[in-house]
Amino acid sequence: MDFDKIVGRVQDFPKKGILFYDLMPVFQDPVSFRALIAEMAKPYLSDSIKKVVGIEARGFILGAPIADRIGAGFVPVRKKGKLPGEVSSLSYQLEYGTDTIEVQAGAIKPGDKVLLVDDLLATGGTARAAIDLIKKQGGEVLCVSVAIELTGIGGRERVAPVPIKSILVYPA
Ligand code: PRP
Ligand code: MG
Repeated sequence: MDFDKIVGRVQDFPKKGILFYDLMPVFQDPVSFRALIAEMAKPYLSDSIKKVVGIEARGFILGAPIADRIGAGFVPVRKKGKLPGEVSSLSYQLEYGTDTIEVQAGAIKPGDKVLLVDDLLATGGTARAAIDLIKKQGGEVLCVSVAIELTGIGGRERVAPVPIKSILVYPA
């Protein structure tokens, strides 16, 4: 399916000078949504992935149905203060300031093979932080799967040596 035709382009969002690639039209259409999930899940159908980790918020939209497809559990990585009980946290650098992400303690077991899912990879800062958080729990991230990869801003380098699988690639 030609997802590129369905992805929206929004100029000057979230700020002036940025061309935003909008996946919502792909999610809204039942045929393209199902096709995207199928394509992202396909390489892992016969892998022994134990957990799909989805990154709040847009990573949840793709991560949960992919987990269902490949017969894995789903684990949310959330922004600080959203998960109940004992959590493991990791702070990481943003363009301005820092952000903190959390996962529930015990959600990833030592040795679990993990597929990390998000809607989009840009600088790779979010994915890198999630990989480090999963590692802290003893999990092994086999791959980062995204619908859209923006190139030229170091995303792949930041996530290496974990490989990235993307459906659509655009220059940042
Ligand atoms: C966006 C996107 C990725 C991240 C990619 O999330 O959904 O998670 O940025 O950027 P990076 O590779 O430079 O880290 P955002 O935090 O804007 O919010 P949302 O998913 O909660 O909408
Ligand atoms: Mg996000």
